[in-house]
Amino acid sequence: MRRAINTDVPGAARDLGAGGAATGRHSGIRWLVLVAVAASVGLPQHASAQAERAQRGLTFARVNCARCHSIDKVSPSPLAVAPPFRTLHQRYPVETLEEALAEGIVTGHPTMPEFRLEPDQIGNFIAFLKTLEP
Ligand code: HEC
Repeated sequence: MRRAINTDVPGAARDLGAGGAATGRHSGIRWLVLVAVAASVGLPQHASAQAERAQRGLTFARVNCARCHSIDKVSPSPLAVAPPFRTLHQRYPVETLEEALAEGIVTGHPTMPEFRLEPDQIGNFIAFLKTLEP
């Protein structure tokens, strides 16, 4: 009598389940949001280029000079010894400041810091000074 010995090797056969592909459909809907910024940035056209430069010059002066110099047509300078900008043209044509501003304006007074301006800053600043002239 022979007994067949079945050596059953437990096969670790894994079902990888490669079968049933899901047929779900990706409907690729893309939302293109076009934000049309119709920014009618509104400086009126009649603001001349010169006026815009003067405006920038004023801003520059307000930031850098106004703590000592008067930058308007009426008020005294916060620092009394600093000449109001409206008086500069009485001393010299303001165009002559151009060079000084480019090279670094150094006045005879130690309290005023040295400033060195970029060419277009100078143009703006002088345009602004001219608005102070009567
Ligand atoms: C910390 C104070 C101070 C600041 C800031 C200042 N100044 Fe002055 N500035 C003075 C004083 C003080 C005088 C007068 C000096 C003198 O008469 O010797 C003067 C004089 C001047 C003069 C006349 C120079 C002359 O010889 O006639 C000019 C131009 C001038 N400043 C331009 C400027 C400009 C442009 C700025 C800004 C970018 C500026 N200052 C910022 C204090 C200041």
